[in-house]
Amino acid sequence: MNKQSQLLEMKITENEAALLKCATSYAVEYLEQLSEMPPFPSEESLEKCSLFEELLPEHSCEASQVINLLGEHGSKMTVAHTGGRYFGFVCGGVLPVALSARWIADTWDQNNALYAMSPIASVLENLCERWLVELLHLPNHTAAGMVGGSSVAIITALTAARNAILLKTGWDVHLRGLFGAPRLRVIIGEQAHSSVLKALSMIGIGVDMIERVPVDEQGRMRLECMRLPDANTLIVVQAGNVNSGSFDPIDEICQIAEKVGAWVHVDGAFGLWAAASRRTKYLCKGIERANSWSTDAHKTLNAPYDSGIVFCKDRDQLVRAMQASGAYIEYSSARDNMLYTPEMSRRARSIELWAILKTLGREGVEALVDQLCHMATYFSERLSDVGFIIGNEVVFNQIIVQCESQATTIATLEGIKKSGVCWCGGTTWFGKPAIRVSVSSWRTDEEAIDLCVDAFISARECARRNSSK
Ligand SMILES: Cc1ncc(COP(=O)(O)O)c(C=O)c1O
Repeated sequence: MNKQSQLLEMKITENEAALLKCATSYAVEYLEQLSEMPPFPSEESLEKCSLFEELLPEHSCEASQVINLLGEHGSKMTVAHTGGRYFGFVCGGVLPVALSARWIADTWDQNNALYAMSPIASVLENLCERWLVELLHLPNHTAAGMVGGSSVAIITALTAARNAILLKTGWDVHLRGLFGAPRLRVIIGEQAHSSVLKALSMIGIGVDMIERVPVDEQGRMRLECMRLPDANTLIVVQAGNVNSGSFDPIDEICQIAEKVGAWVHVDGAFGLWAAASRRTKYLCKGIERANSWSTDAHKTLNAPYDSGIVFCKDRDQLVRAMQASGAYIEYSSARDNMLYTPEMSRRARSIELWAILKTLGREGVEALVDQLCHMATYFSERLSDVGFIIGNEVVFNQIIVQCESQATTIATLEGIKKSGVCWCGGTTWFGKPAIRVSVSSWRTDEEAIDLCVDAFISARECARRNSSK
């Protein structure tokens, strides 16, 4: 062995088990400290960024040094999404079983593309597809693909939708591309998530081509303002507005679409899970009439990140849109996962998804959804009792909070962020600034919320004092 490969050999085979144990103990320590951690890293911790800033290393170093750097310092620069006092964006926590399953899955390092590359990944993805379709009350035989997140799930579904609509007109996108293709109509709500606009632009639909339907005071599409679709129309509805958590009138829109054969896609990044609970199922009324759906298990279901799911009622349309071939590709008679997603090589995302569904079962998923909704209601009621304005009907896990004046809302939000007790993001709700609360971690309990309400009150008092100076 020459000198160079000896060096590499030494670095790679350096006590693998000791390295893993070291990483595990950092991870366990992190979890033990999570409930006490500030939801956003302190200024002091962020100064440690400088420890990572360096030129590309010329020489190798001990792998344990790298793990120590992450464990000792990287961990202090993290945002405690998975803690119970983080309410920014819609992040979701991580269930212990899902994290454990991910550790195993990452150790296995399966390539999920083909059955020939990983039978276990194929079997579990097949199961997840069946279980999720049943859990969410989607039509039998609906196909599912496991992708990175809702943005990719939406792009995937809308690609299948576009191709299917054009195929009806006799235009095969796979053969003829898009130049010169018949025009599609696209209808979305005025408050559709920005990822829908991104997906539309990626599939060749310009902003000027989109018909945007005005919304009501909760951000729901106003049916009476929607121009009637035709057979060449793609409609994107929302199960869960990113600010208010409201749901579009999905059932009514699907009924209109069905009459003309238009395609309806449901963006249910966090809200599609409402279908899994008897208490919130009414919000998703009619979803089974749609043609495709997208959601994130890393949001409401509390899977770790990288767990988006695309569903398509017509399996062939999805597979047609995602087709790929090559002399070396060994398709099998079992499930080949790459047929359902844009990616070929990818990690076996279904391992942790399966672990959650197997552990919680139908009743556990329902309890999780109900708990998040209950905590959001409790939070909003406590805030309302102490004089905050709740700007939305809290139907799911989202709360829009405002103060008596716009300036007080902005200053209160800044105070909350600096408090180190909880973290919320800001938004604009019908032209006015608002504090956005998303309850999406299983760790959020009433005790955590009580602490957060105190932080809200203190931040508002401080904002008021400063404004009266
Ligand atoms: C309604 C909605 N759609 C789409 C997305 C995009 O999801 P992702 O960040 O997983 O790509 C989000 C993200 O919060 C969302 O709330």
